Amino acid sequence: MKSNKNFPSHVAIIMDGNGRWATRRKMSRLAGHRQGVEAIKRIIACAGDFDIKILTFFAFSTENWKRDKAEVDGIFDIVRSYLDGSLEELDKNNVKITVMGDITRLPQDLCRHINLALAKTQNNTGLIVNLAINYGARDEIVRAVNMLIDEGEQISADDISAKLYSKDLPDPDFIIRTSGEKRLSNFMLYQAAYSELYFTKVFWPSFGKRHLKRALKNYSRRERRYGGNHK
Ligand code: IPE
Ligand code: IPE
Ligand code: MG
Repeated sequence: MKSNKNFPSHVAIIMDGNGRWATRRKMSRLAGHRQGVEAIKRIIACAGDFDIKILTFFAFSTENWKRDKAEVDGIFDIVRSYLDGSLEELDKNNVKITVMGDITRLPQDLCRHINLALAKTQNNTGLIVNLAINYGARDEIVRAVNMLIDEGEQISADDISAKLYSKDLPDPDFIIRTSGEKRLSNFMLYQAAYSELYFTKVFWPSFGKRHLKRALKNYSRRERRYGGNHK
């Protein structure tokens, strides 16, 4: 794989299928979310093998508040204990954590843990792990446009990019969605204009290095044209 230069540098993952993974095993949905964290750890651990520079994980959408309160609270608990348990090691491995989304709406304690993780890893220069939490692309675009209106400027496409949560990151080269659903579900709508999309039936908790490798191999065969001529 290393010999092939056609690697995506920014890989964004819509981690879907935790609930179905658990239900099929007669487990609770939260058990599925817990296994989802194990998959996140697996993918972070092997990102370097594939020369991936940025990993974005869609963890909680602005629409996921529609779920039962117990599930929402449970997901937040799982994210908090992930940060609690993994921050030291991530930091030691030079991982820089960033977030997309309105984290001020999250429970205070979780928000505090996230801010701690951001501060602790802000000067790290290795893999960027970008967590999309309480993230919705429409919300992000509306927020950006409102900021520009406040500044009273004529708006260009670059101006909007500069106000998105992802302003410091390049657009994703490759977006992977697990669980067989073929939609973006309000994920990175602006940034995904020329992203390559990949859908797999594998549920997120079962996703591992071999699935990532297969996805990246598929990416490597694609020709990105950005509206230009065929080669
Ligand atoms: C993805 O898994 C994780 C979140 C959206 C938080 P789901 O919880 O959506 O799993 P399914 O789609 O119900 O199987
Ligand atoms: C998308 O999955 C959101 C995340 C992966 C966090 P959903 O399960 O919420 O999406 P829909 O409802 O199937 O479109
Ligand atoms: Mg889902």
